[in-house]
Amino acid sequence: MLFPSYRPRRLRKTKSIRKIIQETDLSVSDFIYPMFVIPGNGVKEEITSMPGIFRYSIDNTIKEIKEIKELGIQAVLLFGIPEKKDEHGSEGYNENGIIQKALRKIKEEIKDIVLITDVCMCEYTSHGHCGIVKDGEVENDETLQYLGRMALSHAKAGADIVAPSDMMDGRVGVIREVLDENGFQNVAIMSYSAKYASAFYGPFREAAHSTPLFGDRHGYQMDPPNIREALREISLDIQEGADIVMIKPALSYLDVIKAAKEEFDYPIAAYSVSGEYSMVKAAGRLGWVDETKLMMEILTSIKRAGADIIITYFAKDAASILNPSKR
Ligand code: PBG
Repeated sequence: MLFPSYRPRRLRKTKSIRKIIQETDLSVSDFIYPMFVIPGNGVKEEITSMPGIFRYSIDNTIKEIKEIKELGIQAVLLFGIPEKKDEHGSEGYNENGIIQKALRKIKEEIKDIVLITDVCMCEYTSHGHCGIVKDGEVENDETLQYLGRMALSHAKAGADIVAPSDMMDGRVGVIREVLDENGFQNVAIMSYSAKYASAFYGPFREAAHSTPLFGDRHGYQMDPPNIREALREISLDIQEGADIVMIKPALSYLDVIKAAKEEFDYPIAAYSVSGEYSMVKAAGRLGWVDETKLMMEILTSIKRAGADIIITYFAKDAASILNPSKR
């Protein structure tokens, strides 16, 4: 049927008509909230390039998690910022490292929160690369054992899900094996499967003090023009034992999310990264966009593309829009 008998505008007439034909529903249970944990007590430092996002000491991390739970958010992704960094990132797998201590404390005090940890060397190495460096190169195979140790130490301290973000080849398989050998069959792996070498990570590197001292990450993270390679990476991670696969960043990679959703029968996560957050905040502060509307539109588009899970610094803001009564 064509115009004038068919008129698509009929179904846009009122808010409630629009609502009944709405195809995509964003919900608070889709969100994972990333958090930065630092040593100390009573610390809450705002990250300059990410207004509204803070580095918290463990006590304040716990307070913050209690607050986000009130809003209905049920999962956090924890990044640790250690007191000291070295070549081998040893604080990353130290039983008394910042993340390990945080996990134990949170588990003790809060029930029913899904604790996910970032497994990567770059927050812990003095050179800021995601692996062990030899002759200026990031060594793939040698890095794997460190990642295995780090993942195991997180599992021992109480992580429900470990999330490797280093992009070394073979790491999901190694982590799965180490976890299983040590009785952690029930700790899941959410793999950063298609993680692109992206300028959108800029603000995160300020937040985590993890900018590489030399070179860049193009030798291990994916090249932005590629999508078939992303599907290959996801397929490898699934074969190696990933439970959830992730695409990162989100906004410039909606095509990759959609392709992954069509191809794989696994939960798909999308990480809407620091730069995506900062751009919206900055433009909002300048008064150039309506920050709240832009946030909701972006998150909805990520869901519409096919993400089952959205990792976003907007989790709190969006949750209070979705569930205004809990604000
Ligand atoms: C660690 C890691 C990074 C991010 C998540 N895990 C930074 C990087 O790879 O440089 C970026 C997250 C963000 O920008 O929000 N490898």
